[in-house]
Amino acid sequence: MTTVIDGREVAASVIGAVKAATVVLEHEAGVKPGLAVVIVGNDPASHAYVSSKSKMAKECGFASVQHTLPEDTTQEALAALVGTLNADPAIHGILVQLPLPKPLNSEPIIQSILPEKDVDGLNIVNAGKLATGDLDGGLVSCTPAGAMVFVKRTHGEDLSGLNAVVIGRSNLFGKPMATLLLAANATVTVAHSRTKDIAAVCRGADILVAAVGRPEMVKADWVKPGATVIDVGINRVPAPEKGEGKSKLVGDVAFAECAEVAAVITPVPGGVGPMTIAMLMANTVIAAYRKAG
Ligand code: GUN
Repeated sequence: MTTVIDGREVAASVIGAVKAATVVLEHEAGVKPGLAVVIVGNDPASHAYVSSKSKMAKECGFASVQHTLPEDTTQEALAALVGTLNADPAIHGILVQLPLPKPLNSEPIIQSILPEKDVDGLNIVNAGKLATGDLDGGLVSCTPAGAMVFVKRTHGEDLSGLNAVVIGRSNLFGKPMATLLLAANATVTVAHSRTKDIAAVCRGADILVAAVGRPEMVKADWVKPGATVIDVGINRVPAPEKGEGKSKLVGDVAFAECAEVAAVITPVPGGVGPMTIAMLMANTVIAAYRKAG
């Protein structure tokens, strides 16, 4: 029997812990975690993600603020907002939703967020701490941290002897995911668009993590029988079966066929997605605790 991981249920248990920690922090230090979410432009998917993040922050008892900036926002105006948020003692976490509309350059903006407020874990200080094995001193990128919760619930804390393949090499996901797997003693391969015979590489994986943004790219014959498959993709595709002009969300993994080969698999939606938001809340409460000392 294949186990389909219920990401909403796992996320709910993380959120429960975050809410409890928030109550304690407010009671003992008079501090409410403050999360600022910044979105620029009109991308509907980004707006949907950001409103889920802001809503969850409120539900957790945070002081949450959302800054919605127009498509034609300048680099200077965005940098100035980040500067203001950096200086605001009531704000413990800053998230600038990516991708930014052209011609904005995201890298200097991300690097200008104070490392202790970088709840996305994208600042080079946090990325560097993770890369050098300091897993507890910085803030870890939310989606890989969430995916890792699934991996550890399935395989335990120590992945010694297990082969893990991560498809995708982004700073936001692939690289930190590979680092977390390596820190847990897995033997890690990072596959990407230039990898030769990617299907064969994936078939060697006890733990296969897909984050490429290509709808249902991973097929059943890419999956080792009994593997754990974590699908990080969220792709909107046409769904004519639901009616004209309708669409649906699918992952990077062809779910139905891969579920027949895998032992454990995450669905889309309802897998990694809810965990990303839960780990963002966890990072914010961690940042607030550190500030409160
Ligand atoms: N866009 C898609 N995922 C993310 C994320 O985890 N953080 C940010 N800032 N932008 C995203």
